[in-house]
Amino acid sequence: MAFIWDESFVTGYVDIDDQHYHLINLINAFGDFVKSGEHSEAVIKIVFDELYEYTSYHFKEEETVMELQGIAPYFLELHINIHKEFLSKVKQMHENVSIDEPATLQNLYDFLVHWLTNHILGIDKNTTAQINAIKNGCDAEDAFLVVRKEINKHLKHSQLSI
Ligand SMILES: [Fe+2]
Repeated sequence: MAFIWDESFVTGYVDIDDQHYHLINLINAFGDFVKSGEHSEAVIKIVFDELYEYTSYHFKEEETVMELQGIAPYFLELHINIHKEFLSKVKQMHENVSIDEPATLQNLYDFLVHWLTNHILGIDKNTTAQINAIKNGCDAEDAFLVVRKEINKHLKHSQLSI
């Protein structure tokens, strides 16, 4: 299963969209590597580290955009916590990867694809909807309340909820 980019992933923020696109390419490269069956712990670490570092960079960028645009503090904190939760989960999954158990690597890849799809289509698109509302003169708190219901639908895989 490859991660196929389509228009539904576009948030409207060029930098964020470009970063998501790059992230998807990295995840797909990771998927190709998983499928190749030619695994060694050293190579798994190199491929995973690149993905992890780019994801961390991207999350920081998103968090800066939210702060600069004056998004509701509660939502900013929630979104940052979701990023942290993801990074700690994938780190743990990577630590548990064993070349003797290919399913551990496949599970990590599946998690990356599902999480990112869910996150971009849910929280990230909600974030940009709030930023657009703020830019159009809406109070940050009101902008948050408008998208609140939608956000909860996308928190199914997280411990977090609103
Ligand atoms: Fe995000």
